[in-house]
Amino acid sequence: MYSRIIGTGRYLPERVLTNADLEKMVDTTDEWIRTRTGIERRHIAADDQTTCDLAEGAVREAMSAAGIGPDDVDMLVVGTTTPDQIFPNVGCLLQKRLGIHGCAAFSVEAACTGFIYALGVADKFIRCGDVKTAVVVGAETLSRIVDWTDRSSCVLFGDGAGAVVLQAADEPGIVSTHLHADGKYKDLLFYPTGVSKKTPDREDMQDVLTMRGNEVFKVAVSTLGRIVDETLEANDLDKHDIDWLIPHQANMRIIKATARKLDMPMERVIVTVQEHGNTSAASVPMALDLAVRDGRIKRGERLLLEAFGGGFTWGSALITY
Ligand code: ACO
Repeated sequence: MYSRIIGTGRYLPERVLTNADLEKMVDTTDEWIRTRTGIERRHIAADDQTTCDLAEGAVREAMSAAGIGPDDVDMLVVGTTTPDQIFPNVGCLLQKRLGIHGCAAFSVEAACTGFIYALGVADKFIRCGDVKTAVVVGAETLSRIVDWTDRSSCVLFGDGAGAVVLQAADEPGIVSTHLHADGKYKDLLFYPTGVSKKTPDREDMQDVLTMRGNEVFKVAVSTLGRIVDETLEANDLDKHDIDWLIPHQANMRIIKATARKLDMPMERVIVTVQEHGNTSAASVPMALDLAVRDGRIKRGERLLLEAFGGGFTWGSALITY
């Protein structure tokens, strides 16, 4: 038993914040942001919009593309680090919106790797025969935890949501998923406040997303190189066997480094970072949906999805679309 993707969707909030807008907010320039990151604009959720609102838009599109209704869904898994509230989890909130009743619904918190983690979890449930159809989502409103006075981080992030519908199939589909984490890097990228720890550990910490960008960059490049190797080796494939790379959209330079590692021309890499910056768990399913809908990705092609994020967490998925 395998799982395969039968529908995709994405949702970006309407409000756009361009690099020119950011020039008025912090000491930065369009040129600096473009050359260091590739980002040109990002979308920001309206004041009354939540992660669940964004997720709902993406899931409705994915379910419609898959041709399924609420009664067909056996499991809802949401990768997010920016839930509407601690509980009910975003999966339960989505159930209420979509009229889905009784199936398991939960969130997976793995920062930017959240969607890959959620996909890995849902795939396992389908493979073992417990679930026939699963909705898998990556949705974030990182704009809510970004320090909009910190030029070194606020230029990077944006809001969005992407979703896929997975269904049981006799052939893959999802060929393999590879999930990893190493908490020793916890101080390089974090948001310090939670429920059981209400205030940041140290006086110099603020209640905002905090990142040592340069160090994150170096670990991200080397780790993503390793996960690509691991995925190819696990499936006895050569790097030239991959048709499309669908990377986490954090930084154009990180994306290019992974593409070089795969000896992959940039025309075979789905790049959306310029349009919406780093949307964390939402970035991979949004890029997938874009390239499916614009006809670049076709049935039967081999896709490599990868992501890296706070934790650090990282992971990949090899998919025959
Ligand atoms: N505008 C202008 N100057 C800036 C800005 C800005 N927005 N931000 C930083 N600078 C300055 C710095 O102050 C520094 O100035 P100095 O040399 O006078 O001290 C200079 O630019 C260089 O700073 P670096 O941090 O060394 O710049 P770098 O080339 O590393 O680029 C960046 C910074 C873009 C953050 C890069 O390190 C990066 O992309 N890191 C990875 C971040 C990332 O992708 N995080 C998310 C991955 S995990 C996840 O998705 C949650």
